[in-house]
Amino acid sequence: MQCSWKAVLLLALASVAIQYTAIRTLTSKPFQLCPMPSPQNCGLPGGPETEPPFEGRGGCDDSPYFNFSASRKTHILVLATTRSGSSFVGQLLNQHSDVFYLFEPLYHVQTTLIPRLSHSRNAADRRVMLGASRDLLRSLYGCDLYFLESYIKPPPANHTTDKLFRRGASRALCSQPVCDAFGPADGNVEEGDCVKKCAALNMSLAADACREKRHVAIKIVRVPEIGDLRALVEDPRLNIKVIQLVRDPRGILSSRIETFRDTYRLWRIWRATGRRPYNLDLSQLTVVCEDFLSSVSTGLSHPHWLKGKYMLVRYEDLARNPLLKTKEIYQYLGLPMDKNVEEWIRANTRGSTELSAKHKYGTVRDSAANAESWRLKLSYDMVEYTQTTCHKVLRQLGYNAVKSAEDLKNMSLSLVQDKTFVPFS
Ligand SMILES: *[C@@H]1O[C@H](CO)[C@@H](O)[C@H](O)[C@H]1NC(C)=O
Ligand SMILES: *[C@@H]1O[C@H](CO)[C@@H](O)[C@H](O)[C@H]1NC(C)=O
Ligand SMILES: *[C@@H]1O[C@H](CO)[C@@H](O)[C@H](O)[C@H]1NC(C)=O
Ligand SMILES: *[C@@H]1O[C@H](CO)[C@@H](O)[C@H](O)[C@H]1NC(C)=O
Repeated sequence: MQCSWKAVLLLALASVAIQYTAIRTLTSKPFQLCPMPSPQNCGLPGGPETEPPFEGRGGCDDSPYFNFSASRKTHILVLATTRSGSSFVGQLLNQHSDVFYLFEPLYHVQTTLIPRLSHSRNAADRRVMLGASRDLLRSLYGCDLYFLESYIKPPPANHTTDKLFRRGASRALCSQPVCDAFGPADGNVEEGDCVKKCAALNMSLAADACREKRHVAIKIVRVPEIGDLRALVEDPRLNIKVIQLVRDPRGILSSRIETFRDTYRLWRIWRATGRRPYNLDLSQLTVVCEDFLSSVSTGLSHPHWLKGKYMLVRYEDLARNPLLKTKEIYQYLGLPMDKNVEEWIRANTRGSTELSAKHKYGTVRDSAANAESWRLKLSYDMVEYTQTTCHKVLRQLGYNAVKSAEDLKNMSLSLVQDKTFVPFS
């Protein structure tokens, strides 16, 4: 039993070192203590040789103090913003047979804690939201899906809910044993079909499915910048790999105008009339650029805490050359890329645009050839305005400004510079 007390001590120290701030005073749920390690989950000789069933439970056993070199989980975090192509990147991970994928669990944190956060840049609100988000992510990486329940409304009864945000975007949650409606022969299940045909989600089964997979990937769009995640990245119990996804802010703006018709209504009026409405909410644009700038500046300055854990991906590079870029991503993650991923790329990035317009968050519509199609949708003065507001981040990420309406519409002139961002290793 020697390993047990050591483990407890080390885990206790690790927990103390990590800052749990605002959230603990806010959730009704107490801070989760790690389960007592048993000799079995210390990786001692004589333990099970097969895939250890304990792996990742509660996020606690997954500690570097034990020898997990052969079976250590990778905790993949896609850090993105809405309409930056993050659904596409999410799919590249979701399709992998060893990956358990969740689509933006932080949605539940936001709607529960700060329903109006999108309109609030209040620093205190932000701290609360970030503290809660880190805590939730940490639990989810350990496959503790019950932790998420305290944020779901109405609260799940008997660990069952039909309110998990974008459940249908996760392959594992739409297939056996979590959902019996589809068998292996059904191939890729449409998100809407999953939601319609699968029974309410049994969180216990979902957690089991998570533990079965070798790796966990989570896509988030509600954390503004990488610095906000430092405590998570440095958590010794996790093995985080961040993929920061960026996109030309002009493209993001255009895509949001099309997608979020109510919130971006005034931008549509600007586009239609050629006049900028006096009450336009410019922060809808400036926030994107500021967040990118600070996040990317942090990432590219190679702080020690991001060593080996940060890769910057431009959506346009992925769209231009999806297979190659995806291979680079998997190489960085240290995982073999499997056949499913490759097949999904082939099926979804080649001239199948009419397949797509179905889903607001669909991935196909936005992929491949139309990474620069925003140029045909935005007016020149909107583009000019964006370029002025975001000039620093455009330069930093290698997006050219256009100097005339002709150049804007001349698609044989690409605005994306060839620029390589090598993962920080
Ligand atoms: C960890 O386990 C691997 C394979 O089981 C072994 O090769 C390695 O030497 C071990 N490392 C330590 C530090 O015990
Ligand atoms: C939860 O399970 C118990 C026991 O099976 C059952 O009596 C109860 O009705 C269930 N609650 C809901 C809300 O389904
Ligand atoms: C959820 O799944 C678990 C594990 O299979 C099972 O024991 C439990 O009864 C299920 N819950 C409900 C509400 O069906
Ligand atoms: C479009 O750009 C290309 C490349 O710079 C240039 O050769 C061509 O003349 C431009 N076409 C128009 C119509 O301006």
